[in-house]
Amino acid sequence: MTIDRRQFLSVTGAALAASQLGACGRSRLPVGGVPDSGFDETSTAEQVTAGLNLKGKYAVVTGCTSGIGLETMRVLAARGAFVIGTSRSMERATEACKSVVGVTSPARLDLGNFESVVECAEHIRGMRVPIDMLICNAGYLGGDNQRQLVNAVEKHFAINHLGHFIFVNRVLDRLYIADQARIVMTSSRTAYTHAPRQGILFDDLMLSNDYGDLMAYGHSKLAIVLFSLALSKLLRGTRITTNAMHPGVIDTEIGRHFNPVMRFGMKVRAAVGGKTVEAGAATGCYLATNETLGAVSGRYFEDCNAVIIGGDNHLYDETMADQLMTVSEELTAKYLVEQKVPQAPKRREAANDG
Ligand SMILES: NC(=O)c1ccc[n+]([C@@H]2O[C@H](COP(=O)([O-])OP(=O)(O)OC[C@H]3O[C@@H](n4cnc5c(N)ncnc54)[C@H](OP(=O)(O)O)[C@@H]3O)[C@@H](O)[C@H]2O)c1
Repeated sequence: MTIDRRQFLSVTGAALAASQLGACGRSRLPVGGVPDSGFDETSTAEQVTAGLNLKGKYAVVTGCTSGIGLETMRVLAARGAFVIGTSRSMERATEACKSVVGVTSPARLDLGNFESVVECAEHIRGMRVPIDMLICNAGYLGGDNQRQLVNAVEKHFAINHLGHFIFVNRVLDRLYIADQARIVMTSSRTAYTHAPRQGILFDDLMLSNDYGDLMAYGHSKLAIVLFSLALSKLLRGTRITTNAMHPGVIDTEIGRHFNPVMRFGMKVRAAVGGKTVEAGAATGCYLATNETLGAVSGRYFEDCNAVIIGGDNHLYDETMADQLMTVSEELTAKYLVEQKVPQAPKRREAANDG
């Protein structure tokens, strides 16, 4: 397949213009009260963490074996953090951990198997270390437009949202004992470009009507933003913050279930107005480490800055976020633990907690 050069250039121009606005011509406004990062869509994870010494800090990166997760683990470990990296396969996690310079530890996590989520969380809790940075990065995107169910809900929603929902709940006590903990929820622009117009379809979480992979993916990525929003309210007054972000469009293994034509389309899309993996990991690393963000929570970020996306979308819908919390708790009740918000113990004391 060949691409006409002039066509390529005009698409590039259009995509670049669109990136000034955000996707689909929506306005993208800065958020008052959140410092401008000085970084943009070209910044890399190495650049946004330049000069940082993360020695003594602990990070968990879900989905560390390829793409954005692998680059995130590489950069955080290079800056001195102890990084626990997860994969569905212990072998792949081990290989990924060995491939980066620094201190890392592999763990097995299958977000589509809630028992595995509990086991992974217990494994990490058993390490008896604080979690300073929790990067919920792992993600699934189907490719054949065939609806699948996991635990009686649609597969994207189960893996991308509910799996992380249980995981965050079960390791929250390790975040409470960090000096200042950050949760980074990896969402996607599809949360407002492809999610259903009504937002979360509480009455049809199986997505039985008009199923499409991108719609289902956007639905799950909207759930991730809303979970972060609702969680930020619950965590007010603690030393834990949570923010959601779109990493950019990057040619990674996320299209592993695509057919060859779709994969080619993704490559072109990533080449035209997309990002490198190094830049794709920047927003997450910035959120996890930048000291100016200590009190910033419940925000949605793109290209290393908090943004308000204009037009019809549900990214900031607190009522929907609260309802999502209730429904997610009901759906995963038997896997959750009760987490009491502690009186913020000092980290030193926590290290001796047995
Ligand atoms: N690339 C993009 O253009 C783009 C755009 C917007 C958002 N994102 C989001 O960015 C995140 C990282 O994606 P990526 O582009 O780096 O994709 P990727 O290369 O496919 O990496 C995804 C990671 O998730 C893990 N994973 C997949 N299914 C899993 C499951 N059921 N349980 C646990 N782990 C699972 C994979 O590990 P194993 O296979 O080893 O288990 C892999 O390490 C995802 O959340 C994705 O939705 C990506």
